[in-house]
Formats: sequence, structure tokens, C-alpha cells
Amino acid sequence: MTKTRIAVFVSGGGTNLQALLDAEAAGKLHSGRIVLVVSSQPGAYALTRAEKAGVPAVVCSRKELGSQAAFETALLKALDQHGAEMIVLAGFMSILSKDFTDRFPERILNVHPALIPSFCGKGYYGLKVHEAALARGVKVTGATVHFVNEIPDGGRILLQKPVMIEEGDTPEKLQRRVMEQAEWIILPQAAEMVAADIAERKEHAH
Ligand code: GAR
Repeated sequence: MTKTRIAVFVSGGGTNLQALLDAEAAGKLHSGRIVLVVSSQPGAYALTRAEKAGVPAVVCSRKELGSQAAFETALLKALDQHGAEMIVLAGFMSILSKDFTDRFPERILNVHPALIPSFCGKGYYGLKVHEAALARGVKVTGATVHFVNEIPDGGRILLQKPVMIEEGDTPEKLQRRVMEQAEWIILPQAAEMVAADIAERKEHAH
């Protein structure tokens, strides 16, 4: 079966990108191949991770490109150049318009560091999510992988994994535990599920 060509969109440290690269190297992401990394931030460490893994990487910054339309045109061009069929948002902090997400129905996944529908939607990203969970005093949080549509964190849920809050947690400690115990596990799993599904549908279409 031909592997599904995957683009990973990042903005920061790229530990979730690393989990995907490691899963591919370990044969756990066998239905897909990471063919492109796109960073919305010029200096992101995720770019170094891509380089180390020998994966082509490009920067598309909304700020530098000046408008949402120019930003999305640049994204589409990069995706097209690398024949990407599926997109994984792995700590990608830019918003994608309905016009963009409509082009990839159930072909864009995102990892969110909470159990949706808790602590999600506009304004909930990165450490802010964990700050909100601790402020609310929940005893269990976790991570969610879901499809991306025009509603922030609103697409169909693919996988979730709970993580316990511990005494003395800080947002930073909790963020790390949610990554280790949930995100880095369920993101590669969900990516494999979707990549396998796309590869299978291609096979049947032939
Ligand atoms: C991760 O915790 C991810 O779930 C979160 O940002 C972090 C990125 O870390 N994403 C969001 O909050 C999206 N709304 P990474 O760059 O090390 O993968």
C-alpha cells in the first residue's frame, strides 16, 4: 500500500513532532511518511528536529506574510510542492480559516492538551490550558486528538487519554506530564489511524 504523505505544522519546541518522527522510525507510523514540516515561527526548535531527521522544513509566518490569505496561500503551495495528503497540527499556534480547513475534510488532526470539551476553544493553548485546569481545581485532565474544522477544537474526537493532577503541580509540571503520559502516545496512534484510512481509500479508488 502507498504511504500517506504527511505534513506536520509546528510553532515551538516540537516535542510532538519528535514523537511522530520517532514513531515513524520505529515502524509505528507505518501507513504514513512525514514529508514536510511547516513552522509558523522562524526560530522554532521544531525546525532543528526536522533537519536532524532529514525532513524538508519551511517557515510560513502569518506576521511576515502580512495577511491570513497570503499565509494560507503559502501553506497550500508548500503542501502542494510536497504532495501532502494529510496534515498534523503539533503545537501549531496559528488559526486556519474555514476556507483552508474545508479543503482537507477529516484530513487535518490536532493535539490539544486537555480533555475536550474542557479547557478548549479560543484562548486555550499551550500553558494557558494547564493554568486553567489547575485554577479550576480539576483532579483529572489529559489530552485529545481531534479532526480540525473551522471551529477551534470543535472537530470530531479521535482519541483521548486521561492524566491525573498531582499535589504540588505547577502549569509547567502538568504540561510535561500530559505530554509524556498522553500527547506523545495518542498523537502518533491517531496519525497512524488516519494515515491508514487514507491509504486504504486510495487503494480502493484504483
Ligand atoms: C503541546 O502541549 C500541544 O498540545 C499544545 O502546545 C504544546 C506544543 O508542544 N497545543 C495547543 O495548545 C494547541 N491548541 P510541542 O511544540 O513540544 O509539541
